[in-house]
Amino acid sequence: MQRHRFDSTGRDVPIIGQGTWYLEEGDPASAIAALRRGLDLGMTHVDTAEMYGEGAAEELVGEAIAGRRDEVFLVTKVLPQHASPTGTIGACERSLSRLRTDRIDCYLLHWRGPHRLADTIAGFEELRRDGKILSWGVSNFDARDLKEALAIAGEGRIACNQVLYHLEERAIEHAVLPWCERHGVAVTAYSPFGHGRFPGLRSAGGRVLAKVAAAHGATPRQVALAFLTRRPSLFAIPKASSVTHAVENAAAGEVRLTAAEIDVIDNAFPLRSTPASLPML
Ligand SMILES: NC(=O)c1ccc[n+]([C@@H]2O[C@H](COP(=O)([O-])OP(=O)(O)OC[C@H]3O[C@@H](n4cnc5c(N)ncnc54)[C@H](OP(=O)(O)O)[C@@H]3O)[C@@H](O)[C@H]2O)c1
Repeated sequence: MQRHRFDSTGRDVPIIGQGTWYLEEGDPASAIAALRRGLDLGMTHVDTAEMYGEGAAEELVGEAIAGRRDEVFLVTKVLPQHASPTGTIGACERSLSRLRTDRIDCYLLHWRGPHRLADTIAGFEELRRDGKILSWGVSNFDARDLKEALAIAGEGRIACNQVLYHLEERAIEHAVLPWCERHGVAVTAYSPFGHGRFPGLRSAGGRVLAKVAAAHGATPRQVALAFLTRRPSLFAIPKASSVTHAVENAAAGEVRLTAAEIDVIDNAFPLRSTPASLPML
């Protein structure tokens, strides 16, 4: 499993991790087995949120990582409506309890909501001083939001921006990804398989993925994950509720695409939309 530096934390984190949205909707034994097999195979970046199943996903994660906490880079998220200074602290303490741990490696604001960013960041900083979180970050932030957070917190504080990023949705490459790379903010790709809408084998893009995959003895999904994590700033967190899927996803962490293969995939899944605004320095 390749690792990239999760920049401001100084931690080397596996490029392929494990998502947990809707994990609680399936068979819990299968979900826990998938998470544990994922950990065995190096997918120790585990992403969850208080929102997922109203805490049920965090409880599953807590069970899956019991006895193995030190292996895990644990990420969870506060809901925007809880993200006042005291609300953030209360939400974090409830997450810690469900996760059966004393610390979160990276605590994220799930998306921007009613509370002032400065208030949420004040809550994060208090949690960090108390050792309940080791770092904090954001999610679904555009370049303008990031710039505002940076102005409040200063350089080196925003550990991560977790964003929608898959082969058919590459909009972050216009402004968000360059901004994060300039400021040492790790970028985690959520819904890397398009939340289950992965290009079919009969589509033009699907055929390109299959051809690249064949050259590596890999699968199209593994090639997609390798493409999405091709830069040192990038990580991906596919969600799998079966051991079979977890095993396939973990092996993507060994696939190294050539520059020519990256070009071929880039052409097959072009960066379409025009940026709404130019990158902000
Ligand atoms: N910050 C945010 O706002 C935000 C938003 C969305 C998601 N996320 C995070 O990102 C994670 C991933 O995104 P996502 O859950 O939306 O979707 P995703 O990972 O793009 O896709 C999940 C779907 O792909 C299937 N799958 C996984 N591995 C597979 C494999 N090897 N072969 C075939 N199918 C496979 C899963 O099936 P099975 O379940 O049957 O294995 C599931 O149906 C979430 O779980 C969550 O942790 C964050």
